[in-house]
Amino acid sequence: MSAAAALRERLGGFRPRALLTLGSGLSALADEVDGAIALGFSEVGLPEPTVPGHAGRIVAGTLHGLPVLVQQGRLHLYEGVAARDVAACVRAAADAGADTFLVTNAAGGLDPAMSPGDVLVLADHLNLTGASPLVGAGGTPQFVDMTGAYDPALRALAHRAAELAGLTVTEGVYAGLVGPAYETPAEVRMLRALGADAVGMSTVLEVVQARAVALRVVGVSLVTNVHRPGGTPTDHAEVLDAGRTGGPRLAAMLRELLPAL
Ligand code: HPA
Repeated sequence: MSAAAALRERLGGFRPRALLTLGSGLSALADEVDGAIALGFSEVGLPEPTVPGHAGRIVAGTLHGLPVLVQQGRLHLYEGVAARDVAACVRAAADAGADTFLVTNAAGGLDPAMSPGDVLVLADHLNLTGASPLVGAGGTPQFVDMTGAYDPALRALAHRAAELAGLTVTEGVYAGLVGPAYETPAEVRMLRALGADAVGMSTVLEVVQARAVALRVVGVSLVTNVHRPGGTPTDHAEVLDAGRTGGPRLAAMLRELLPAL
């Protein structure tokens, strides 16, 4: 059975409006789901993340008024999995009836004026992974339009939600790389020259997949570290720590955004 069919079966009559993918530091938001049904990735035929202690879960229920599937844990290309597997949850959510994809991530800031804890509404992305979930996908649309991929109307709602949550946010372009090594100073200069404002190791493949199955997309990055000219050592423990510290700020914004979607 496909992941999509297995998920539909496990959800019974529940029809989600949106898929919410939670990045590092945001996991706790899934605890706020009303009437939650929690499903392990493997229970619905989705590949499990390989990072130890990061079991993948889908929590189905109503979150601040919106019927959702909340994805806790995700697959990354750096785990050695296929691009199609990275995006499997997005396909399954669309098949279960979702029409919106709210994607969050932790990212490195590329503008020296940024600080850890800043929140960025995504305006666009650079897929620098060299991969796509649509390669070899057979029947699905291959030649997908990516203009306006980050829905302008939803971006406006994200800004409104940030205002209601008392957050100052900016908009920016997210560069998605394979990782898992952090960027060299030369790569940071390259990314800046290419017009990126933030860099991370997720999101872009999921967004390509979301557009291929006609989901509206809204993306938000939590800046966990900032790359400064001349090179800034990036420490994974610090990134995780900043995610935990900044997570509640982003969660406050999502609590305002969800009912507006
Ligand atoms: N680079 C790539 N991915 C990241 C970073 C970074 O600086 N911070 C959080 N995820």
